[in-house]
This record gives sequence, structure tokens and C-alpha cells, in this order.
Amino acid sequence: MLIIALVGLAGLAGLVSLPWWLPARVVALRVRVFERINGDEGIPVPGDLVGVERFEEVYAHPAAGGRSKGAALSDLFWYWLSPGPEMHQEHLEAGDTYDAVARTTRRLLAVRRAEAEELARRCAGRALRDVRGLVRLRDLMIPMWAEFSYELVFGEPCPREARDLIAANAEDVAGALQCTRLRHMGRRDRLTAYLMRNLHRVRVPLPEGLTPRQQAYYLHGAFCTTAVVQLSEAMAHLLLVLARHPEVQERARTGDDAYLDQVMAETLRLYPLFGIAHRVTTGDIALEGSGTIPAGSVLCFNYPAFHHAGCPDPDRFDPGRFDGPDAKHLNHIPFGVAANRPCPAWRLAPIVMRVVTREVLGRYVLDSSVSHTRSMPHRGPCLLTPRGAPHRPGPALAYLRARDRWEDVWRSLAQLVLGTYMVWDARRLRLCERHFASFETFGPEPEGSHARHRTGHRP
Ligand code: HEM
Repeated sequence: MLIIALVGLAGLAGLVSLPWWLPARVVALRVRVFERINGDEGIPVPGDLVGVERFEEVYAHPAAGGRSKGAALSDLFWYWLSPGPEMHQEHLEAGDTYDAVARTTRRLLAVRRAEAEELARRCAGRALRDVRGLVRLRDLMIPMWAEFSYELVFGEPCPREARDLIAANAEDVAGALQCTRLRHMGRRDRLTAYLMRNLHRVRVPLPEGLTPRQQAYYLHGAFCTTAVVQLSEAMAHLLLVLARHPEVQERARTGDDAYLDQVMAETLRLYPLFGIAHRVTTGDIALEGSGTIPAGSVLCFNYPAFHHAGCPDPDRFDPGRFDGPDAKHLNHIPFGVAANRPCPAWRLAPIVMRVVTREVLGRYVLDSSVSHTRSMPHRGPCLLTPRGAPHRPGPALAYLRARDRWEDVWRSLAQLVLGTYMVWDARRLRLCERHFASFETFGPEPEGSHARHRTGHRP
């Protein structure tokens, strides 16, 4: 009897303490499973071969220019970012098509500062109407940036149909990337079809020499996926940081833009949107005194490791690091390195993020008690109390803390199962490898054809 009671008690203790030990173990298991399926083809940078001091030099090297071809890792990114990953700007190899696409992106992003601010303010005003109470910050941000992005591309207010299609696509991509859901190609394909029907309304000429489907894939990748997902993730991180640090929130609300910029810089230092960006070397890279990186190597540039290196107490959130002349000595590349395909929204993104942050802080007091990690699978749970309303966040914070802990348990298990499936499926489909193999066999496809396009569906 005593033994049964003891076993029962031990079982109960194990069950109740699940949130404190299970998620970390499941995450470690997931990393091991991913490594097993993917293999370890990459050279980690910083790492044994290339130290932190050479991180930027190697990233900026002209031979660190190959984008997708030749890296097994690319199959996984192409899978997550389908359909048409071969036309997404970030996956195109250098050449005429890349130049034409990058030029179009620059034109679409070259909006006057006052116009960009006004557009961001309008989109925020609409998205925040009638919102209060408990929200998930990323879910709140996605429809806002969907409208913003649509208007950048089409130069007119975003119809509801388009907003819903873009938001559904972005939610699907962000969820799949974080392994909290499987990808739903139907949702994504509906957006491609919408874009194809509306290509004639885009406010700048689209890259020449592309089929209409390729043009739609380009817009889909850069403006409906990358722009919306990145801005929503970045804003969710920023608002969550403010919610967890009330004193910083108050100073950001009442202070000048210089302080808000420090908060943004520190947020993107601690929570860079890219974990790893990879490049395939197109020639040898000689490392003075420590050998050579041969052509065809896959370099994996680790943003969090670089941002942490050489920074005192790197895990502490401290916007003051960016105050004063010492800031320029920090390792900080949230938008990539200027010499090697940096983010084309490098100028625009901080401008519009500042506006939206002011719109949110002007309307609400933000509170949160959830964990904050670089990958944000919980989508940023937060309490929004309208300014002027009674502010008693205690019970909501206790609820959020407990819910976050328990959600972590099932979420880590779901991520293990869904992530393993997607990594396995991506290795099976080999979208990138097959694209380049068929390109080399048949050559570039004729204008108007889309027979060989990889939509990411099963063959
Ligand atoms: C805060 C928001 C954003 C951050 C932190 C960010 C960060 C980055 C980083 C680090 C890279 C370079 C990765 C590499 O070296 O491989 C990149 C590339 C890129 N980003 Fe952003 N991004 C943001 C918003 C946007 C927006 C709004 C767009 C809109 C179109 C955009 C479009 C792109 C594209 C197309 C590339 C690929 C560039 C190329 O290969 O030529 N990003 N981004």
C-alpha cells in the first residue's frame, strides 16, 4: 500500500513539475534529431576555423557569394518558404535575374520617409482599433504589416481579401518555421493566384524576362512573406521587451527617438531575426595563417553567437549599451553585412517600427510575464490595458506565467513531432537540389512556361 502511495506521489510530482524539466529536454532532442536527418555539412562561423574576429571579413568576402545551390540546408529553407522559392530574392544566385529582382525591390522600398511613416501610422490605427486585453503580439502585428506591404506594392489601400490572404500566408510560414504547425500549401497557393491576377496593378514595372508566375512568386516571397514575417517578428520582440521592462517602456514612451533606437538596437542584438544565414563559397577563401576554406563549402553564419561575443553580460537586456561611442565596437549586424546581400529594408524597417511602437505605447500600457527567447513559438502573449483605464495587471500576469509554462510542455512535443516530419519531408522532396539538377539538364525554361516550377507540392 505504502509503495503504491509512494509511486503515485512520485508520478504526481513528475506530472506537476513537467513544465520545469520536459521542454528543455525535448528541445535538445529535437536539435539532435534535426542534426541526424540533415547531417553536419556546414562550417559554423564563428567556430574553430573562423573566429569571431574574422566573422565579418569572411561574410563580406566576394567568394562567400553562393546562395542556395550546393547546400543541403537550402532544401529545408525552400520547403518552408514555398511556393516558388527559386524566385525569392534571398534564394536567387547572383546574375541577371537577381539584379533585376533586387532593383525592383529597391524601387518598391524607396518610399519617402514621411509617406512611409504616414502609411505605418494608418495601418497601425486600423489594426489597433477595438483591441484590448490579452493578445499574442505576433498575431496582432501580421494583419497590420500585411496591409502595409500590400500598399507598398500596389500603391492603394489593401482590400480585405488581400489582407486575409497575405496574413494567412505569413502566419503559415512563421508557424512552420517555428515547427508549431505544418505548412498549408493551399493557403499559400491562393495568395499566388491572387497576385497573378493583379500583376498589372503593381505600381512599378516588374522584373523583365520573368514569366507572370515567376513575377508573382517574386512578390509573394519578398513582400508577402519576408516583409510581413520579419516586421511582425521584430515588432513582437520589441513590444514584448517593453512589456517585460516597465521602466524601459515608460522611458521609451516619453523619451526621444534616440532612446527608442537604442531599445530597438538592443532588442535586435539579443533576438536577431536570423539564427543562421548560410552561404556557399564560389571560390577558395584564404585565411591568413590558418588555412583555406575550399570552394563549395557551406558557411553557416551564426547571428546570436556573433552578437553575444565580446559583449559584457551578453544575456542581459541593456539598451544603454548603444548609448555613446563604445556602441560601434559591439558586434551588431541585425540587417546583415553591407558587402554581402544585406536586407534591402535596412533603412525603412526601423523608421516604420518606430512609428508603430509609438502608436501602441500611446494607446496602451503593456504587461507580460512570459518567457522571451529568440525563436518565439508562443507568439508573444501580452496584456494591453488602454491608457486611462484602471491598470491592475497582477492576476493576468499570474495567469500568463502559468499558461506559458504549461503551453511550453505540449508545444515542445508538437515542435518535436512536426519539426521532425518537415525536416524529413524536405530532405525527401529536395526542392533546391532538384531545381538546379533540372536547370542544368534542360537549361532555362521558355518564357510563359511554369511546368518545372517547384511549388513545394509533392511531385
Ligand atoms: C526588422 C525587420 C527586418 C530584419 C531584422 C531583416 C533582416 C535581414 C537580414 C539579416 C538579411 C540578410 C540575411 C543574409 O545575409 O542572408 C535580410 C535579407 C533580406 N531581407 Fe530583410 N529584414 C527585415 C525586414 C525586411 C523587409 C520589410 C523586407 C521587405 C521586402 C525584407 C526583405 C529582405 C530580402 C529580399 C532579403 C534578401 C536580400 C538579398 O539576398 O538580396 N526584409 N533581412
